[in-house]
Amino acid sequence: MTDVELVVLDDAEAAAREVAGRLARAAAEGRSVVLTGGSTPKRAYELAAEEQRDWTRASLWWGDERCVPPDDERSNFRMARTALLDRIETAPGAVHRIRGERGPEAAAAEYEQELRDVVLELVLLGIGPDGHVASLFPHAPTLAERERLVVPARPQLEPMVDRVTMTLPALRSAREIVFLVTGEEKAEAVERAFARKPDEATPASLVRADDGRTTAVLDRAAASRLRV
Ligand code: 6PG
Repeated sequence: MTDVELVVLDDAEAAAREVAGRLARAAAEGRSVVLTGGSTPKRAYELAAEEQRDWTRASLWWGDERCVPPDDERSNFRMARTALLDRIETAPGAVHRIRGERGPEAAAAEYEQELRDVVLELVLLGIGPDGHVASLFPHAPTLAERERLVVPARPQLEPMVDRVTMTLPALRSAREIVFLVTGEEKAEAVERAFARKPDEATPASLVRADDGRTTAVLDRAAASRLRV
């Protein structure tokens, strides 16, 4: 039925704990980890920081960013900084944020350079209620990108600020992709992402690790329209 391993847990806290454990293990093993934005992963980041303080062997990347300064409350980096980075030890130069404040084109070009030749080992992603993933929105031209790893993007949901996003080829190159999705309001998007045919109407349905494992960690509410 699905090419994705589904892990369905009782509630959002249990789902956050599951993802935190995976992040903490990746950090301990010194893997390259791609963080996601939105609000859902915040608790997972806090728990991961409690579980593993030493992230000095890991490198950290972002799947997408809003074009705002890093201390803006809409910044994905800021959320990860307060929930995770401020509570752990990282190695100098190992935190690769997208410099969205430089504007979408410049920030995307700069991140593309930084990312070239990097093997992404663990990519964490959320899903929007419209089925978007990173800043790849339904039917957006960014979905057609086959060469670049990072591109500028226009928002289709709040916050309505320009974005920078990893592309499908970048995300699909990951050794492992883990989606974290919770809440009843995501149930329809989850059904479209994991139990229907891949479709540009639901960008999350297009994101699978080409040569690796893809897992969705869900709470019961988000999984309520799946037959599991
Ligand atoms: C972003 C995100 C985005 C997010 C989903 C889910 O910058 O907006 O990276 O793809 O993961 O919109 O967000 P929530 O967790 O807030 O529902």
